[in-house]
Amino acid sequence: MSDHAIETMLAEERTYPPSEEFAAQANAKADIYDVPFEQFWEREGRERLTWFEPFTELYRWEPPYAQWYLGGKLNVCFNCVDRHVEAGGGDKVAFHWEGEPAEETRAITYADLQRDVVRFANALKKLGVKKGTPVAIYMGMVPELPVAMLACTRLGAPHTVIFGGFSADSLSGRMNDMRCEVLITQDEAWRRGSTVPLKKVADEAMDAAPVTKQCVVLRRSGNDVPMQDGRDHWWHELEADCSDDPESCPCEPMDSEDLLFLMYTSGTTAKPKGIVHTTAGYLVGASTTHHYIFDLKPETDVYWCAADIGWITGHSYIVYGPLANGATSVLYEGTPDFPDKDRWWQIVERYGVTILYTAPTAIRAHMKWGPEHAQKHDLSTLRLLGSVGEPINPEAWIWYREHIGGDRTPIVDTWWQTETGMILISPLPGVTTTKPGSATRPFPGVDAGVFDEQGNEVGPGGGGYLVLKRPWPSMLRGIFGDDARYKETYWSKYPDVYLAGDGARIDRDGDFWLLGRIDDVMNVSGHRISTIEVESALVDHHDVAEAAVCSRADAITGEAIVAYVTLKGSADGSVEKLEELRNHVAQKIGAIAKPANIVFTPELPKTRSGKIMRRLLRDVANDRQLGDTTTLADPTVVSEIAKRAAEEKSQEEG
Ligand code: WTA
Repeated sequence: MSDHAIETMLAEERTYPPSEEFAAQANAKADIYDVPFEQFWEREGRERLTWFEPFTELYRWEPPYAQWYLGGKLNVCFNCVDRHVEAGGGDKVAFHWEGEPAEETRAITYADLQRDVVRFANALKKLGVKKGTPVAIYMGMVPELPVAMLACTRLGAPHTVIFGGFSADSLSGRMNDMRCEVLITQDEAWRRGSTVPLKKVADEAMDAAPVTKQCVVLRRSGNDVPMQDGRDHWWHELEADCSDDPESCPCEPMDSEDLLFLMYTSGTTAKPKGIVHTTAGYLVGASTTHHYIFDLKPETDVYWCAADIGWITGHSYIVYGPLANGATSVLYEGTPDFPDKDRWWQIVERYGVTILYTAPTAIRAHMKWGPEHAQKHDLSTLRLLGSVGEPINPEAWIWYREHIGGDRTPIVDTWWQTETGMILISPLPGVTTTKPGSATRPFPGVDAGVFDEQGNEVGPGGGGYLVLKRPWPSMLRGIFGDDARYKETYWSKYPDVYLAGDGARIDRDGDFWLLGRIDDVMNVSGHRISTIEVESALVDHHDVAEAAVCSRADAITGEAIVAYVTLKGSADGSVEKLEELRNHVAQKIGAIAKPANIVFTPELPKTRSGKIMRRLLRDVANDRQLGDTTTLADPTVVSEIAKRAAEEKSQEEG
């Protein structure tokens, strides 16, 4: 994030107290902050979930490992589906699904969901999936995606969902790491009127992941895809003779600390980390925060989290939190601008959406398209808006409130991470006076702080590193198969304190202002991508000798990726080479990691010990005055790069 953006954020003085009407009906009242931490999580754990056997110990903290709700037995699918049906809520809609082709819609009730999940869980059993079998899921936003996840949890099989935009290499890397025995995918996914060949990518990935021996394929587009005998099974054929009677496939009783899923995320090396989430703590955290922060009234609200289920936001706030709370949600397959830029607002109007949760990058895209698209539709049902994924600039915050929220709805700016499993810093909509750009306060039962370099806590007005000083139920239980990296990444800077990897400031009222990542992780459209991951994808290309990657500020995507590349044999760059390299990165990682710019340069700026000076490259990328170059081996390199970058820019603009 640029210094300028940070300054404007801190200069923002407007405040928005909750209205009396909202406050009076809110799930969370001010005294929620007075409940002692242990009492809070004990109560939420007992009341929010249904247990097969109650837990006997709230938590055990052996830094840096926490366990929660010890001794308890439960099942996630039971909590998300079966118990609602048993309580008479079978006819209630769980998902209003809308396909990208607008004529395709489906209302899926909790009873439908139970039947679909049971039938598919029985189908998975035929492939040998049982408690403990790791399953990979690579799908678009179709109802069968939550069905597949819930079927896994019903059987006690841990899953990893891989975002449909990731490449074959990314998919096989994750399947190999988790040793997934089964992959669930679909023929193709819809995107902006054309199709994404998921099965084709899956085939390539399975070639590189011999552990994955079975593949289930949902028919979505209906176009022909190759099916390999003995390995690939059509979803509908596999489940054709399976029972949908819940008795035929009871929910497996799981220990509180049994593995629920892995979610891979970028760290500061080329290898993504498999973040470990376990059963009880995760579900308590996701459902509790969903209840209070989104003020969910399951009988009347229509809730829409417009994220993709392939990311943690979709796991916690499309699937597990809302279903555990018995919510009625919208699930939308496509993009916001297909076929027209008012698609989202059409959906809000059609289903009477009351709560909308999205990312600043989407809000800024809508801002750019103009408010006229929203104005064409009746958005008066909206009563609460949410934001997640990156710091929201006050301008976008105000636009969101005025043009989408009718200058009426509270906005909750929610800070959290894949690692935290649940929102940790956020306003409570009936309690907190919000400020555009501030995520305000730690959630009840969460102890966040800001530390300086030496580990002293900074007070109001200070800035530094965001930390968490106490465990919380849905915190990560580690990095899959890599304890050393877990300790090094989160626990080595300060003893027994979790380092989030974000910079933050606390203002004089004690409100938190998130300032972006402090490590080599970029945030592009709310997606985490490591600089080193992109660098290794670039040097993987046969013509590339060296690459350095950093980000620059971007008006829509927040950050954009800039790569500096030295070609082998001092070859010169060309427009064709640039496109080739961008596509190579897309092939290695996924289209989300494509650099926005590539600057070809004969040399990269390095210290005398040979380390690439990324800080200087960031300055060049952001047109900033160059930082200190005294430790550079050859200071002329940077000015040469700056010159080339400027030339490229003027070509782009010209
Ligand atoms: C950033 C997404 C400022 C932050 C849930 C964090 C935010 C990373 C916010 C996690 C916010 C997320 N304000 N920054 N409201 N929400 N971030 O793992 O840098 O995909 O560390 O989880 O996104 O991204 P992740």
